[in-house]
Amino acid sequence: MTRSVETRTELLLQAARQARLAPSVHNTQPWRFVLADGALEIYSDPRRQLAVLDSTGRQLLISCGCAVFNARVALAAQGYDAVVERFPDGFHPTLVARIALGDQPGTIPPIGLLDGCIISRQTNRRRFTDEVVSPELTAQLLEAASAEQAILVELDDLQHRLAVARLSQEADRLQNADPAYRAELRTWTTDDPTRPDGVPAITVPRVTGESQDDIPIRDFDTRGTGSLPPETRSHLGQSLFALGTAGDDPVSWLRAGEALEHLWLEITRQGYVASLFTQAIEIPYLRQQLRIELGLTMNPHVLVRVGKAGVTSASMRRRLQDIVVDRTTAHG
Ligand SMILES: Cc1cc2nc3c(=O)[nH]c(=O)nc-3n(C[C@H](O)[C@H](O)[C@H](O)COP(=O)(O)O)c2cc1C
Repeated sequence: MTRSVETRTELLLQAARQARLAPSVHNTQPWRFVLADGALEIYSDPRRQLAVLDSTGRQLLISCGCAVFNARVALAAQGYDAVVERFPDGFHPTLVARIALGDQPGTIPPIGLLDGCIISRQTNRRRFTDEVVSPELTAQLLEAASAEQAILVELDDLQHRLAVARLSQEADRLQNADPAYRAELRTWTTDDPTRPDGVPAITVPRVTGESQDDIPIRDFDTRGTGSLPPETRSHLGQSLFALGTAGDDPVSWLRAGEALEHLWLEITRQGYVASLFTQAIEIPYLRQQLRIELGLTMNPHVLVRVGKAGVTSASMRRRLQDIVVDRTTAHG
């Protein structure tokens, strides 16, 4: 069926609406969107890159990959099998993806079923209950990652968990001792409820030294105003996963983001919650050590803990009109 330009534009706008709810490192939301004829273009925004934490731009592109996945889900929910070109224009490296509407196969493509979970997915930094992920869900998560050309590894070996805990603690200690890291973290944390980006105090545990964490939750409580209980007990018995890709280049990072959001929405759909702990991956020699001690052949990009916990508040997003440019002929 041929759709009018207005209808196509509205579909692409809805994809941008959902893309903007994606998770991003420190809630930097390092993206902007262009509505073009028949396609949504997603650009990275290098001004929002974390210079200290993410000098390579890997986490910036993982964040953009999460936004790409949400856009694909939104179009799938409308019956479209979106066609994605990644880094389609060598002259414009910030154009990370062009997402065209694609065919309408007559049934909803399976990822469309995740659309309702985009709004409810959140980073949950609370203490998790003792319930671990079922083998069925683990199998689905491995499949979700592989559908995006990424690799998910369940960390079920005690020696591997101990290594993850030790290396994460080491990374966390080194980072917190670095004034430039703390200054950047402070810039991207906020207790202003009207600020549209950054990690809000209502979503982070109060840091009082009572966390009892084996696996450290990043200390976002830069102003002593964190609202969640301080005792988070992020422990070795919880379900832990490493997500990575065969390559370690911009396309791989984008795909890792698509995989991350795919499995995070699946986790949400099944009533579980997740949070990330990427500290050990941000320090090159610890990332290398992680690969060796876990026997990984892939390049790890994020570590994820999955479980059940009470709800947390949503963090803010920038307004759609501040991040979308309409270049379709619908409004011309
Ligand atoms: C690449 C990437 C790395 C992240 N690393 C961490 C982390 O180390 N610790 C953490 O608590 N959250 C981490 N997050 C979660 C973000 O802080 C979170 O997505 C953002 O604040 C928006 O909140 P929301 O996920 O609840 O929408 C990461 C997210 C992404 C996409």
